[in-house]
Amino acid sequence: MPLQLWVDFVLVWFILFPAYAANAVPVLVGGKRPLDFGKGLGKNRILGDGKTIEGTALGIAAGFLVGALEYYVMPALQGYAAQYNVLLPQITLPLALAIAAGTMCGDILGSFFKRRMGIERGGKEPLLDRLGFIIFAMIFAYPFIQITPAMAVYMIAITYVIHRAANFVAYNAKLKTVPW
Ligand code: CTP
Ligand code: MG
Repeated sequence: MPLQLWVDFVLVWFILFPAYAANAVPVLVGGKRPLDFGKGLGKNRILGDGKTIEGTALGIAAGFLVGALEYYVMPALQGYAAQYNVLLPQITLPLALAIAAGTMCGDILGSFFKRRMGIERGGKEPLLDRLGFIIFAMIFAYPFIQITPAMAVYMIAITYVIHRAANFVAYNAKLKTVPW
């Protein structure tokens, strides 16, 4: 395997960790006040009770915090990688915020489209549920870090597998009422 593909594989985790934190924390903390203020659009709610102000705010904060931690440790990793002539990009604070915000936007847009398709809150829409958030995290991150096609493929594949596993665990731990 060419070195660059390994570097890409390591690098994607620096985007994935903040995105996963932003995606998971709302499920853990929940929330009360719905982001759509209970309002409807057509026959259904705009977003539904599964998207709350508290969950969204804490999700963005958690994602940013993880990204900020990476911003701290990255220079040491860059120094290590430089010994092998590998150039690692710096994780910046705007990138951390972009990943966190992108993740929440993807999650919210996913619910928006689910409601428009007539799928009720908690209903299953595999692609939007599993990949919507990471695709938006990538789109938001794009101006701040170079994302190669290999990195995009890694992120989608890793997220698909981890999301299925994590939701299975969350369901069995009774954090979620459905296994998706
Ligand atoms: N959650 C939240 N705010 C968010 C995202 C999630 O409060 N922005 C919490 C809600 O309690 C939600 C739970 O995390 O029920 C699970 O998240 P998710 O699976 O995204 O929501 P669903 O309830 O499945 O609703 P939807 O069908 O809209 O995805
Ligand atoms: Mg769901």
